[in-house]
Amino acid sequence: MTDKTSDSADVAANALWGGRFSGGASDIMQRINASIDFDRRFFRQDIAGSRAHCNMLVAQGILQADDGHAILKGLDQVEAEIAAGEFHFDAAKEDIHMHVEARLAELIGEAAGRLHTARSRNDQVATDFRLWLRDEIDALDQALRALQATLLDRAEEHAGTVMPGFTHLQVAQPVTFGHHLMAYVAMLERDRGRFADCRRRLNECPLGAAALAGTSFPIDRQATAAALGFAGPMANSMDAVSARDFAMEYLAAAAILSTHLSRLAEEMVNWASAQFGFVSLGDGFTTGSSIMPQKRNPDAAELVRAKAGRVIGALNALLVVMKGLPMTYSKDMQEDKEPVFEVADTLTLTVPAMRGMLADLTVDGAAMAAAAGRGFATATDLADWLVRALGLPFRQAHHVTGSLVKLAEARGVDLVGLTLDEMQAVEPGITAEVFEVLGTANSVASRTSLGGTAPEMVRTAIAEARSRLS
Ligand code: ARG
Repeated sequence: MTDKTSDSADVAANALWGGRFSGGASDIMQRINASIDFDRRFFRQDIAGSRAHCNMLVAQGILQADDGHAILKGLDQVEAEIAAGEFHFDAAKEDIHMHVEARLAELIGEAAGRLHTARSRNDQVATDFRLWLRDEIDALDQALRALQATLLDRAEEHAGTVMPGFTHLQVAQPVTFGHHLMAYVAMLERDRGRFADCRRRLNECPLGAAALAGTSFPIDRQATAAALGFAGPMANSMDAVSARDFAMEYLAAAAILSTHLSRLAEEMVNWASAQFGFVSLGDGFTTGSSIMPQKRNPDAAELVRAKAGRVIGALNALLVVMKGLPMTYSKDMQEDKEPVFEVADTLTLTVPAMRGMLADLTVDGAAMAAAAGRGFATATDLADWLVRALGLPFRQAHHVTGSLVKLAEARGVDLVGLTLDEMQAVEPGITAEVFEVLGTANSVASRTSLGGTAPEMVRTAIAEARSRLS
């Protein structure tokens, strides 16, 4: 005990580096410095890493077998205590690594102090984080598969349900609802690919890099890497303790996924509005209004749309933390975890919420078909027919069709509402056969090019996607 500073709550020197220090950290230092409130999430990974390290130290003759045995037993108890919620956390012990070690010392005494041989919190935290994120990505992949499966089911049901396809949110050409949903299946497949890439690259073990330079003890990094299920050890000890691109990559993939989810959410908000009237959302994912009895608000969709902001923000936060950091570890990097935790927690809500909304959705096929029939959605079919049947150059066909649309607009009818006489006044070659291509169902059925919206093409795409998914 030495001189007390005005804001020091506890002047006892820290037990883990007390040799160099005579006073304790000030209260505010403890609070800014501690990560235990969030990195306690790593307790299982931290203990798994310690077990692997301990076994390797014994196998290499660096640690006596009886000490190793005591350490493993003690670690089991620490894990059980934390899992049972019986563990006392204390900001003075900073982080999960120090909590585990301190409790181990209480339980088994001096042998606990031998566990930290040939290791540092720098390689420990990097190892914990990679292990944790690997599991998180595996769980996310399951959730994304489930979302894809629901999209596929709904797409199959609506492979032939005609709706307007939009560009610029203006009616463009008829498509099927199934085709529209399959676009999201494709996006999610790429999202899953991005997370799988991230997982593959992050699956290398930093343990044994020690503080930054490696160690003079004869450790076996292959053994610890294998014990923890990594593909192998990270090659460079400095890179091992300072790399956080795995976390950035995860957040980048999450940000892209979240933009995809937000686009679908936005479509649901539109579709469920009275103006579109394409779908109604179930009771499970909507709310009523306390004043307007008629309301059914698409809150879950709106929140999925909004949460993309949080995810993109988290990616930005980590990029800015890491930008310009010199080799190797800096305490700045303790700020790497919360953005990732926040995003992982967000995705455990948004992905299943989206799935639930899709499963509950009631589709009004008649409203969709009626909307597809408005807005001259088959104008392109008419132009294509002029090319095919009359041999007009496409540019001229486009012009003729434009004149017919203008005429229909002036008459207040759709293209099918024009008479043959009216059409022939614009283009004398037109015959009654033209009316066949002006129907939306025929339009959709004709789009049989690869990746097109014809129901048969949509069904093929669904079958292919299902086989890739299983
Ligand atoms: N709590 C720290 C973190 O999350 C662990 C690593 C501490 N390393 C150190 N050299 N102070 O980054």
